[in-house]
Amino acid sequence: MRNRIQLTIIAVLLLVIAALVYKFVVAGSVVRLEDGRQAIVLEPGERAFVLREMRAFVAGLQQMSGALARDDMKAAAAAARGMGMAAAHHAPLAMVGKLPLGFKTLGFSVHRDFDAIALDADSLGDPKHTLAQLSQVLGKCVACHGEFQIQAASSY
Ligand code: HEC
Repeated sequence: MRNRIQLTIIAVLLLVIAALVYKFVVAGSVVRLEDGRQAIVLEPGERAFVLREMRAFVAGLQQMSGALARDDMKAAAAAARGMGMAAAHHAPLAMVGKLPLGFKTLGFSVHRDFDAIALDADSLGDPKHTLAQLSQVLGKCVACHGEFQIQAASSY
């Protein structure tokens, strides 16, 4: 009898853990929009954090394109590295739990791509190659913007 109660408690706890993992790792905090995108609901400060990171991408891309036009591969590599994984590590954990898995996967892959682009720019020194890589990673910006929007929780 006692064993059965213990097993039931363990089973319930495992279910709770599985539900929490699903909520914070896979599902995130999202609402479906009429245009087919998903709106991720964040606190205003968290939304500002993500949008600031986005604007940093645009600034980095501006530096990269200028550097590539001058065939300055050192500067191109430095700009790419600035958009790499190092830039992703400051994300607050509570916010990461609200991001759906698809968003996190795509976001981290963009940061990893920029690290790879930086390495190649340094080692190959070929602007055309870097431009082709850049075009590929821009495809991920486009894909994510087609799928997600961000809303501030206070607007609900
Ligand atoms: C993982 C998903 C994702 C990726 C990858 C991504 N973005 Fe975004 N971006 C978003 C979302 C979501 C928003 C908010 C859009 C909204 O709420 O309408 C956004 C907003 C922006 C904004 C508006 C910022 C502001 O202040 O309003 C810019 C600019 C931007 N992204 C540029 C980029 C660029 C450039 C890249 C690629 C290097 C990129 N993003 C990659 C999801 C992404």
